Amino acid sequence: MTELTDPMERPISLLSNTMYGASLAWCVKSGPRFWHTSHRNFARKPKSASSVQWLARQEKDPYVKSARAENYRARSAYKLLEIDDRFKLMKPGHTVIDCGAAPGSWTQVAVDRVNALHTNTSKLQGKAVAIDLLFIPPIDGAKILDHSDFCEMEVQQRVLSHVGETVDIVLSDMAPNATGMHDMDHEKIVSLFESAWKFARHILAENGHFVGKLWDGYHLNRLRKELHPLFRSLKVVKPDASRKESSELFVMGKGFKRYLVQPHEKQTGQ
Ligand SMILES: C[S@@+](CC[C@H](N)C(=O)[O-])C[C@H]1O[C@@H](n2cnc3c(N)ncnc32)[C@H](O)[C@@H]1O
Repeated sequence: MTELTDPMERPISLLSNTMYGASLAWCVKSGPRFWHTSHRNFARKPKSASSVQWLARQEKDPYVKSARAENYRARSAYKLLEIDDRFKLMKPGHTVIDCGAAPGSWTQVAVDRVNALHTNTSKLQGKAVAIDLLFIPPIDGAKILDHSDFCEMEVQQRVLSHVGETVDIVLSDMAPNATGMHDMDHEKIVSLFESAWKFARHILAENGHFVGKLWDGYHLNRLRKELHPLFRSLKVVKPDASRKESSELFVMGKGFKRYLVQPHEKQTGQ
């Protein structure tokens, strides 16, 4: 995993995000048999050069192969596994909110790491709540809120009704459908990131953690500066599983300083 000191130096291409978004939407729409992003329906005739390119890349991708072998719904699982292995964020007994969760691979990882199914009876049982605009096929141990826009206050209130007063971890892998226009796509993902961060700021427990996805761009440094004082450790990371040609990166805040947040801010909707 690369830790980025100057993310502006890296090449930026949104092609992979565009294709990923499209393929993901396709898989989810096609129903349970095909929702695994690494299990595209190869019987269908590819329609365009970009589909052919996408299929070829999927076939070669070691993370796609591992995701199939380990029953993860998407290769993205390995991004969260890498971040969690390195920073040790999720523990049995934790409550995790997973924003932008479809098809569900981050939620699968979270369910396992927080012991949401209580498979390890000697450890605390945690909780995972998954939210997405799209359909999320059921995941044992997780509360699913699909067809839900996380940016809406009513949806955030519904999330809160499933957890206690505070939560341990807020994850956001939310991404818009990329247009390929860098600045516009950056603005859109920043707005999703800010929605998750604003929510996290209200609800994270003392020493809680936040992971939010961004595509590199103008607002990164501003957000980094905004989050930095509120966490004991703040890093911008690019997991090895994140495609090199993608401008995707993750802002990881470990050890939330809730005591710095004003009491009137500790509720959503303020
Ligand atoms: C990269 S995918 C998430 C992949 C997921 N982490 C996994 O591992 O399976 C990004 C997701 O963000 C969702 N998304 C985008 N905007 C959203 C919003 N406003 N509310 C909820 N989900 C949103 C998209 O529908 C898409 O499923």
